[in-house]
Amino acid sequence: MKRGKVSSLKGEIHIPGDKSISHRSVMFGSLAEGKTVIKNFLPGADCLSTIACFKKMGVEIEQDKTDVTVYGKGLDQLSEPAELLDVGNSGTTIRLMLGILAGRPFHSSVAGDESIAKRPMKRVTEPLQQMGAKIDGRAGGEYTPLSVRGGNLTGIDFQSPVASAQIKSAILLAGLQAKGTTTVTEPHKSRDHTERMLTMFGIKLDEDETSVSIAGGQTLKAADVFVPGDISSAAFFLAAASLVPNSEVVLRNVGLNPTRTGIIDVLKKMGAHLEIEKKDAGSAEPYGDLKIKTASLQAVEISGDLIPRLIDEIPIIALLATQAEGTTVIKDAAELKVKETNRIDTVASELKKIGAHIEPTEDGMKIYGKTPLTGGAEVSSHGDHRIGMMLGIAACICENPIDISHPEAVSVSYPTFFEHIEKLAQKV
Ligand code: S3P
Repeated sequence: MKRGKVSSLKGEIHIPGDKSISHRSVMFGSLAEGKTVIKNFLPGADCLSTIACFKKMGVEIEQDKTDVTVYGKGLDQLSEPAELLDVGNSGTTIRLMLGILAGRPFHSSVAGDESIAKRPMKRVTEPLQQMGAKIDGRAGGEYTPLSVRGGNLTGIDFQSPVASAQIKSAILLAGLQAKGTTTVTEPHKSRDHTERMLTMFGIKLDEDETSVSIAGGQTLKAADVFVPGDISSAAFFLAAASLVPNSEVVLRNVGLNPTRTGIIDVLKKMGAHLEIEKKDAGSAEPYGDLKIKTASLQAVEISGDLIPRLIDEIPIIALLATQAEGTTVIKDAAELKVKETNRIDTVASELKKIGAHIEPTEDGMKIYGKTPLTGGAEVSSHGDHRIGMMLGIAACICENPIDISHPEAVSVSYPTFFEHIEKLAQKV
């Protein structure tokens, strides 16, 4: 796909539903008793994989674009799937579902695409085995395909080596089905959508800053869910409007959960012109409108407990940093290596091709700004949605057009991404 420069971005868009919250709404609706009505669901490929998996376990789910209804019959009514549970590209689907399957007294097989086959699973399969689940897979349960025979779990006190909501959620969902209490403690707090939504579905949790406990044997009651826009999708347009000259863009209904707003903190530190209008601070997931204008940016240092609050935004932050005065240093972000691609490598290699001065490091990267992006090169998403979108925004500021291969990867989390650029773009 050839993409070129735009002269400015103007207007407003509604950011599609949050991917993390959409997954959880289908999963928890499937475990609950009663009808769960979901509004503003993200019809991206990842969330559709979650729907397909739960249908294979006998759950009735209706989907009409962004409206989804789940007819839950309770955890005990999930049935043994006759087919492979195919998670596609979705790490959230496989890891959270493993926590559910670990407690079910049946057999299941789970696999996904080429990228999923390379992603580490022992981080969830080992603690689930400790709780009593029988799980096997390539390299002793590290890689898909995985087979699970669940049931008879006992609660554990688990110290997670990484701040990961996927690990935390998998253990809590197993804990819900275990004897006794299960506690997960993390080095830094990861996104807390599971805790917020389980509470909405009637589950009692004990939480402090970095640990959560759940008592086994509780039942979920259906609830209606409004999914706010995904701040990780909004991030691409926050960056685009900051970088493209004479831009002014309004992004509607963006989720503002504090465990996800690291990108806002970083943009403010960089000197972005950003205004936030909170619309509903009282709901389970806060959200609001974001207004953003072109600005000159300064380099920043990003590390420590900020990392889990913006882990998915690092590709687009790297692009922002190429246009900021000074050297941006990102560290403590080794988790980037085990995302949909090794994002330290893919960000550095693709940005270098279009003229950026960027150096990968063991746990992050250094970006030297401000460097004009010459473009005029062939780049690739490497099948990674966030790399594809970062390159789509980069094209808007490159001197010469760039050719992006595998742009279709964006449909994993933002099927209307290129349409939204067209809607806002004033062409050169
Ligand atoms: C997610 C958690 C994060 C994030 C992913 C979605 C979730 O992964 O990168 O895109 O929905 O729980 P980790 O939990 O592995 O950090």
